[in-house]
Amino acid sequence: MKILVTGGAGFIGSWLVESLLAAGHGVTVVDNLSPQIHGALPTPDVGWLQRPDSGVEFIRADVRDRDAMDQALAGVDAVVHLAAETGTGQSMYQISHYYDVNQQATASLFEAIVTRHRHVRRVILASSRSVYGEGAYRLHDQLLVPPSRALSRLEAGQFEPVGPNGEPLELVPTPESALALPASVYAATKLANETLGSVMASTYGLKVVALRFQNVYGERQSLRNPYTGILSIFSNRMRQGLPINIFEDGLESRDFVHVSDVARAIRLGLEADLPPFTVTNVGSGVPTPVLHVADLLRQQLGSTSELQVTGDYRAGDIRHCYADLTQARAVLGFAPEIGLEQGLQAFCDWVMTQPVLVDRSAQALKELTQAGLGKSSS
Ligand SMILES: NC(=O)c1ccc[n+]([C@@H]2O[C@H](COP(=O)([O-])OP(=O)(O)OC[C@H]3O[C@@H](n4cnc5c(N)ncnc54)[C@H](O)[C@@H]3O)[C@@H](O)[C@H]2O)c1
Repeated sequence: MKILVTGGAGFIGSWLVESLLAAGHGVTVVDNLSPQIHGALPTPDVGWLQRPDSGVEFIRADVRDRDAMDQALAGVDAVVHLAAETGTGQSMYQISHYYDVNQQATASLFEAIVTRHRHVRRVILASSRSVYGEGAYRLHDQLLVPPSRALSRLEAGQFEPVGPNGEPLELVPTPESALALPASVYAATKLANETLGSVMASTYGLKVVALRFQNVYGERQSLRNPYTGILSIFSNRMRQGLPINIFEDGLESRDFVHVSDVARAIRLGLEADLPPFTVTNVGSGVPTPVLHVADLLRQQLGSTSELQVTGDYRAGDIRHCYADLTQARAVLGFAPEIGLEQGLQAFCDWVMTQPVLVDRSAQALKELTQAGLGKSSS
């Protein structure tokens, strides 16, 4: 196949492109080498970008550039659409920009495909577990997704979601059938793209696969972007011995999935025999408290940084969510292969080869709190 990967110079994209090339596919990449991800003078840590003989056609362009996208789509069989703005907190005040890059550009991509590039047969959308908002819980044998937490509750240190009458809830893995209740602008754009994809599939017979990634981590993740990626932010500070701001009470959890598993899931999404529209989770299926992952990271980096549980919080953050992988197994044949300790070790080994960067995460949190969207103790 000839495959267009938007955002292919990014973290997940770089792993995917490598694996597509190894499998003998032709690859075109469109990426604007966004300075927030790649720095002012972009030097992405991707060998094929520097090598003219890599077999990748690289087009440095914005996904909102119609002419560039028409050029990139020529002769393409499938598109993996990864390019996006990815900062949950940042999306809460850069609202129109997030809609423009994440949603309007996806609408333009679909329009280009169905009006001018009907040779494209399949589109993979990089969706996100954030579309659920909070993860799923059980209350009296019923599955429910609680509404996003009010800032007043977070301010009062009441972090755990509760039932409609204040009942305690039992956390369970979140299946695709759970109600989608986005808690951030970023998540709203991802859910809108899924809905658009399902209309494109039913109207035009295009195969659309939306993969709801959990928290992806691993080698080559941007260490520069202060708006997303807690393991990058923590590791950069830990290498400088700086204290680590653990939000809420540290018991909030995430499903950390290694990027090699995610790249494999995308390849399965490109190859599997699927119905016209498919939505599926991609994760490890394991919830890990943030305080625990920070402690593991600190040990593996040999850092002396203090883990400070501050009670800080951000609008748009969720408490817990981890993937139910039943459907991913059934439709994609996907199961994660890299456990957290093994993946973290590989991540830390790579981090130690990278330059230490000026930390900008405190500034990013300040932007949010100045907009009244969180609390910062620093
Ligand atoms: N990493 C995660 O934990 C995670 C979780 C859920 C969903 N996702 C989704 O997966 C996709 C890839 O994420 P990632 O972690 O590799 O992010 P990333 O930031 O490393 O990569 C995104 C790439 O897109 C490029 N890009 C950004 N805006 C662009 C634009 N307007 N035009 C062209 N290129 C542009 C950037 O330069 C970057 O190379 C995103 O859509 C993201 O929302 C990621």
